[in-house]
Amino acid sequence: MGRRRAMGREVEEDEDEYDFDELQSSGKRLKCGGSEEDQSENPLIPGSFFYPMSPTAFVVCDALEPDFPIIYVNSVFEIFTGYHADEVIGRNCRFLQYRDPRARRRHPLVDPVVVSEIRRCLEEGVEFHGEILNFRKDGTPLVNMLQLKPIHGDDGIVTHVIGIQTFSEAKIDLNRVSYPVFKQTSYQQCDLLGGNPPTNAENSQTSDVCGILQLSDEVLAHNILSRLTPRDVASIGSVCRRIRQLTKNEQVRKMVCQNAWGSEVMGTLELMTKRVGWGRLARELTTLEAVCWKKLTVGGAVEPSRCNFSACAAGNRLVLFGGEGVNMQPMDDTFILNLDAANPEWRRMPVTSSPPGRWGHTLSCVNGSSLVVFGGCGRQGLLNDMFVLDLDAQQPTWKEVLGGTPPLPRSWHSSCTVEGSKLVVSGGCTDAGVLLSDTHLLDLMTDKPVWKEIPTSWAPPSRLGHSLSVYGRTKILMFGGLAKSGNVRLRSGEAYTIDLEEDAPQWRQLVCGGVGSQNAVVPPPRLDHVAVSMPCGRIIIFGGSIAGLHSPSQLFLLDPSEEKPSWRILNVPGQPPKFAWGHSTCVVGGARVLVLGGQTGEEWILNELHELCLASIADVDT
Ligand SMILES: Cc1cc2nc3c(=O)[nH]c(=O)nc-3n(C[C@H](O)[C@H](O)[C@H](O)COP(=O)(O)O)c2cc1C
Repeated sequence: MGRRRAMGREVEEDEDEYDFDELQSSGKRLKCGGSEEDQSENPLIPGSFFYPMSPTAFVVCDALEPDFPIIYVNSVFEIFTGYHADEVIGRNCRFLQYRDPRARRRHPLVDPVVVSEIRRCLEEGVEFHGEILNFRKDGTPLVNMLQLKPIHGDDGIVTHVIGIQTFSEAKIDLNRVSYPVFKQTSYQQCDLLGGNPPTNAENSQTSDVCGILQLSDEVLAHNILSRLTPRDVASIGSVCRRIRQLTKNEQVRKMVCQNAWGSEVMGTLELMTKRVGWGRLARELTTLEAVCWKKLTVGGAVEPSRCNFSACAAGNRLVLFGGEGVNMQPMDDTFILNLDAANPEWRRMPVTSSPPGRWGHTLSCVNGSSLVVFGGCGRQGLLNDMFVLDLDAQQPTWKEVLGGTPPLPRSWHSSCTVEGSKLVVSGGCTDAGVLLSDTHLLDLMTDKPVWKEIPTSWAPPSRLGHSLSVYGRTKILMFGGLAKSGNVRLRSGEAYTIDLEEDAPQWRQLVCGGVGSQNAVVPPPRLDHVAVSMPCGRIIIFGGSIAGLHSPSQLFLLDPSEEKPSWRILNVPGQPPKFAWGHSTCVVGGARVLVLGGQTGEEWILNELHELCLASIADVDT
């Protein structure tokens, strides 16, 4: 029987122990080095710890103490890392990022973007999943597929964090330092305010003023610059040449973007930044200086003709499902346009089974590469069924997901995806023509997804044809629609928000400045418009059905997280789509907004594609 430390105490274990030699060779269970007496008998032998059935290493850290000290490690952790419990209890886990137990900084190959994401997750008390380079005590590099799970006390406060490590061999050349180590520019290269090295006298005089500049480049870059927002980094870059130089580092810029936009958005933007770099992308998405409209010409066509279809993007693929064909025929076909292809063209997808045909439904992207169809109007009336299509499957097939008790059958509702896998559906219209005001959520990441109505003490008036846009990871902005107002139905120009991360999420009206504030405008009330969430959390709306007004290309921009949010008009050059309502929009590659379809009042547009480019995609020097 061995002894383990748990929550600062020593506890006895007899079930959960692995012996290192045993793990390697036999199925027999022996004792493992956990207690001091055991250590000499069972040394943690380096270099021979890879075996096929990996048991899981895990640690528990105290979240109520500063710097998350370890209070428990299991024996698998000891075996894989070569560190004994006694050596690591009370320390922060970051020592695994140091190649040498005596090293005082993380190895340059440890990705600072991942470290920064871990930091953010711990600060926000949310789960982390990701891969990070770690080192055994003897310096052997390991790939650590790390999961961090916060544990909440009865009062909701995070009291502990469990770290689950799945280690595997890291096949890397440690002599190749791909991540730029900051070579100290020191004072030989720049002065405190942009000129020459300070003399001793200057040093003592200026130390009060610019102590920050006495920090090493590495500390400045990793501990200060990488925690700022793109806007702040741009400002601090004007302090002096040395800091400006550091802000040009691509890794620092990437971390800064990640702070502002979160890791999910970063994934979709990665491809784009290969061409323009993170610095330029951050600037363009902040200032919107490069926004423009373009007409996009692609091959193929969506046939036969239809209206009221739904389209959605999964990465760089655009998918269109269903719609209302001639003689109100509900369509059930799926089309795909792959924008990564050399010559993109619409293709009908050969799916082995299809959901029943429909229009007025929603199509949303979940888990990066799957699409979900919900509701709409079918041959027999309104629907509340749900089907999922995995685009990456060898033989893509629409599969029905039952999900417990679904929301009422409906059409012209709105939907969005929160945190990658949670489908949210709100409002719409029932068979009897009644408008709805409910909001439902279904997490498609769980084994058995179940619909849950979000119980709110107050909800925006019931409506259809509104938009739901996600910002700030878990927040939703509802805008516009045809809303019930007393006994009549009116176009709405109101905005409402809800934060799903709150314990009891509540809809609240967002009071958007207009009167009195400079440049502020109020978008005319509308329904069936387009709403686009930008990577930085701002929302653009345009088009839709507007009473008696024809304001074809007017775009409105709102930052709902501002203290006093206000709409402003965004003037966009280029070739905009025709003014229409019922457009379908998809954001591809994070910063390309594709607009298709729509009703101009005279005709339905089907095969016309326009692009609202939020940032330049040409090859340019940063
Ligand atoms: C419970 C827990 C387990 C952790 N496990 C690891 C780990 O196995 N490897 C690692 O590199 N970092 C791990 N970390 C993350 C680091 O301790 C640290 O939080 C991270 O490096 C970011 O903080 P820093 O920038 O101050 O170093 C863990 C953190 C917690 C709270």
